Amino acid sequence: METELTRKLNIQYPILQAPMAGGPTTADLVASVSNAGGLGSLGAGYLSPDQIRHAIKEIKQRTDRPFGINLFIPEPSMTHQDNIADMNNHLDTFRAALGIAPNPSIPKAAESFEEQVQVVLEEHVPVFSFTFGIPSREIILSMKQRGIVVIGTATTVHEAIDLETAGVDAIVAQGSEAGGHRGTFLTSTADARIGTMALVPQMVDHVTVPVIASGGIMDGRGLVASLALGASAVQMGTAFLASAESGAHAAHKQKILSSGEDSTEVTNAYSGKAARGILTDFMKDMRDYPGTVPAYPIQNALTRDIRQAAAKAGNPEYMSLWAGQGLRLATDQPTADIVKRSVEEAVLLIKNMGNLGCSEENGESM
Ligand SMILES: Cc1cc2nc3c(=O)[nH]c(=O)nc-3n(C[C@H](O)[C@H](O)[C@H](O)COP(=O)(O)O)c2cc1C
Repeated sequence: METELTRKLNIQYPILQAPMAGGPTTADLVASVSNAGGLGSLGAGYLSPDQIRHAIKEIKQRTDRPFGINLFIPEPSMTHQDNIADMNNHLDTFRAALGIAPNPSIPKAAESFEEQVQVVLEEHVPVFSFTFGIPSREIILSMKQRGIVVIGTATTVHEAIDLETAGVDAIVAQGSEAGGHRGTFLTSTADARIGTMALVPQMVDHVTVPVIASGGIMDGRGLVASLALGASAVQMGTAFLASAESGAHAAHKQKILSSGEDSTEVTNAYSGKAARGILTDFMKDMRDYPGTVPAYPIQNALTRDIRQAAAKAGNPEYMSLWAGQGLRLATDQPTADIVKRSVEEAVLLIKNMGNLGCSEENGESM
């Protein structure tokens, strides 16, 4: 199970738990994955600098193994004020259904990226990963000077080449099966929906840094397939979402455990950025929205009160239920068991494949 990336990250198994902003990646989840021999990762994109510092301390109390902190690269939001007002009015229908106040003042759209980065640097976290773009050269250099391993996210070969040029140590190849937001930053998200099986080997052929396969990988079978495609590790998100240590809402977990491979869609209705989640009434209703959905992070801020009220009421239909296409393979096992089972399955599979090779050598029919 040793690969170029496991050596670089100083971990036992080539399994990275996907950073999942918005609550699922608790300190418990992150530390359990790291303690089980993988790399736990905190989705810190929505957290304030103080919250990130606190979470890092909590993780360090629970593990002395490597772990990662993940941030969102900010992007200019070009949304017109009229689009924002129109959307806010439209959202009042959902607010009325939930019994919350209409037309609230719009909350802060995003935390300061520079201040978030400062915490990562000061706390000397072992791994820094990011999505939605590429940070400045200075940030990447500062991380590397402190011995922090830097991992970027790409959804096309071109994005991967740009990340390698910028100096990252490894690249997550995010296939279209993946749950949550698309990391696409060079092209339209519709043009960048390449399946993991097609994306990984093409990326591996065009960059020299290790590639991490992500999207639809749920167990040892996905791990072995990814290694066969040339990946140095996998990054699994949905596989851990319903685990005991995940902080995902109970209604989200329940939906994950009762949904199938055809239950998800990619939508920009919740946040203004394309993301894959289990189909909800909110997504269906927003299909008919006649105007322009404000870009991320504005739309994310506009829908926050709706998502929070729905979560409080335990109503999954107005919550964002991010999940990938591997849903039917999700379990509510403890995190460490998911890592252990995936490794055991992979080892057995590799052994059985070796036997296939032997039969051929012996002239036996396959
Ligand atoms: C609930 C959820 C939240 C996510 N949040 C983040 C995030 O904060 N940062 C990030 O880089 N990727 C995020 N992702 C995407 C994952 O990194 C990864 O690409 C995806 O989970 C892989 O597909 P899978 O869910 O089929 O395993 C998220 C995914 C999910 C399901």
